[in-house]
Amino acid sequence: MKELTRIVCDLPVPETEPQRQFYYMDIAKQYVHQLEGKKGRKLTFHVSTFGCQMNARDSEKLVGILENIGYVETDTEEADFVIYNTCTVRENANNKVYGRLGYLNGFKKKNRDMMIALCGCMMQEEKVVEKIKSSYRFVDLIFGTHNIYKFAELLVNALEADSMVVDVWDDTDKIVEDLPIERKYSFKSGVNIMFGCNNFCSYCIVPYVRGRERSREPRDIIREIEQLVADGVVEVMLLGQNVNSYGKNLEHPVTFAELLQEVEKIEGLERIRFMTSHPKDLSDELIEVLKHSKKICKHLHLPLQSGSSRLLKIMNRHYTKEQYLALVEKIRAAVPDIAITTDIIVGFPGETEEDFLETMDVVEQVRYDSAFTFIYSKRTGTPAAQMEEQVPEEIVKQRFERLLERVQTIAGEKAEKLTGSVEEVLIENINEQDSHLVTGRLSNNSVVHLPGTADMIGKLVLVRLTECKGFYYLGEVVE
Ligand code: SAH
Ligand code: SF4
Ligand code: F3S
Repeated sequence: MKELTRIVCDLPVPETEPQRQFYYMDIAKQYVHQLEGKKGRKLTFHVSTFGCQMNARDSEKLVGILENIGYVETDTEEADFVIYNTCTVRENANNKVYGRLGYLNGFKKKNRDMMIALCGCMMQEEKVVEKIKSSYRFVDLIFGTHNIYKFAELLVNALEADSMVVDVWDDTDKIVEDLPIERKYSFKSGVNIMFGCNNFCSYCIVPYVRGRERSREPRDIIREIEQLVADGVVEVMLLGQNVNSYGKNLEHPVTFAELLQEVEKIEGLERIRFMTSHPKDLSDELIEVLKHSKKICKHLHLPLQSGSSRLLKIMNRHYTKEQYLALVEKIRAAVPDIAITTDIIVGFPGETEEDFLETMDVVEQVRYDSAFTFIYSKRTGTPAAQMEEQVPEEIVKQRFERLLERVQTIAGEKAEKLTGSVEEVLIENINEQDSHLVTGRLSNNSVVHLPGTADMIGKLVLVRLTECKGFYYLGEVVE
């Protein structure tokens, strides 16, 4: 107990969610109030997010609860409450967290009431939690991906405890709706449509740290988006590890294409994006919906991982090079101006020069609008980690450079083609380098900088793309 008077509440603790969390938020508020009195000022918090869009959305849930109980956000980590929402998809994501924890300890020595919490995917790994328990004992709270909805309760536990509170679950079938969320942007928002992953690609740790696939009910998703729109949101990004298998496990199954059609009907919503589409589950029905939609953005992220059918099989991806290429052709035939982007892994165990050249060949044939390229990272517990023949680092590096060079050249050539055209742009923020400029996004997800003012943020405007700078455009509003 951090020199606080214990709050005793006469009411029974609710058994149901989210009522139980609101009960704990009330208790937390009283502790925060006590600490404010002691310090003579408001308490501050800082949330650091690593990893993907799901983690970014989860962090908005953490912020929602922290603000609800009276903490004020600050942009430095020298705060009264610091939480790292971690990622473990590749080893380097992991190492960053350990590096920064050292710094935090320095701040905690200066501020004895400071609390440090860790959550997210890394915490689902037993060996990580063991390491923190033994080497980073100044951490106050650890929880995982499955019980993030319990954050208010866990925070109260941590405030009342004398030692580190650890609560990590192996899996869950629960989805808790209607907890507070504080959005980072006023005009756009991520929306979870499903959690977890059942695909077990052989290199990937996500299914182990995010658990089995669970879809939200369509009515909950629609209701959330309607509320967001009422609150000023014009663009949503529907989030899932494999959105194309959305709805299969619901009591009344619904397809992703059907969900999209329902979302499209929401009045006031202007743009719909989604992430990520697994090629093996991308249906003809979805292509039809993309073709006829007025709101779905002209951008499809379609991870390739490798162009070698031999490796794709070992990766457990369930498609061949030829099937992938045929799919791209079918999508482009239906939606000619769609931007296609991808993820590619270089140096998967046993990757030969021939395998790598197959990947390069897909890159040449598809001509991606952009691609995230990753060096294979061995993740303990995944089947690929057991595979012999890890590719020597030097070779992987060379392949990575060759791939990156082609990916970037092609992306530049493709971007050049839109120069001179007029496109609809959602203005997102004031330019960080030059405050006379604003930055926005095209439907195809490209970025454009143009002269403008803060009142344009969140608005859709027509912009002429005057110059292509490779990864972005310069433009001007068309009157
Ligand atoms: N669910 C998404 C991807 C989530 S992870 C999908 O299936 O496409 C994001 C990307 O990280 C993956 O597409 C993959 O390219 C990369 N990745 C995953 N595990 C990796 C590993 N062990 N090493 C290197 N890159 C990896
Ligand atoms: Fe990982 Fe594959 Fe699931 Fe994507 S689909 S999260 S790459 S296991
Ligand atoms: Fe990382 Fe977890 Fe996302 S491992 S990529 S934060 S699902």
